[in-house]
Amino acid sequence: MRRPVIAVDGPAGAGKSTVARRVARALGFRYIDTGAMYRAVALKALTTGVDLRSEAAVRQVAAETEVDLTSGPGGETRVWLDGVDVTEALRGPEVNASVSVVAGFPSVRALLVERQRRLAADGGVVMDGRDIGTVVLPYADYKFFLTASLEARTHRRQRELSQMGFAVDAGALREEIRQRDALDQNRAVAPLRRAEDAVVIDTTDLSVDAVVDRILSLVTARES
Ligand code: DC
Repeated sequence: MRRPVIAVDGPAGAGKSTVARRVARALGFRYIDTGAMYRAVALKALTTGVDLRSEAAVRQVAAETEVDLTSGPGGETRVWLDGVDVTEALRGPEVNASVSVVAGFPSVRALLVERQRRLAADGGVVMDGRDIGTVVLPYADYKFFLTASLEARTHRRQRELSQMGFAVDAGALREEIRQRDALDQNRAVAPLRRAEDAVVIDTTDLSVDAVVDRILSLVTARES
């Protein structure tokens, strides 16, 4: 029997990657962080000096970029760009500032969406992003949309970044997240929005364990 596919969408800092990774581990599924794919393309464009305003040039970078996701010793996701571990670099301020531009190019999205569909084709996958339930995998067996207040999301990102050694000002981070939300929600192609058939979970006052448990109980109830 084909194992199910689970889509997890939502804005930055809603807890998608932590939750999706934990759900994948509990089910023995593969976790796919699609944001990391857009970030990897942005990082490569930045480091190779490609003009980020040129869709054709960025698409070319995406076409020539190989992104692999592996699990580190503690279960964390490591992201490899053309064979180099770029996990930390992907979270840096330069990538944060330019990734929405990269993700706004339709031809870049088309290329990455095709790769994402291939990764999910055999099932047994938890995929997180912004358009997984709406565009990438509209026939996903389960769809979840995680939200949280801007305050909670800022606080989480700040903690995550400081654990990685980046010192950030909360006010500036809050503003950056707010701007990125606006760009993600208002772009012409595949904007961030909830699929009509997605289960919405507001994670503002929920622990990671509580969110993971809620998802697992919905999935296992239907699969058993
Ligand atoms: O989840 P994240 O913060 O790593 O995502 C990075 C950026 O990529 C974010 O601005 C939204 C964009 N993105 C997207 O447009 N579609 C996806 N499926 C995943 C991420």
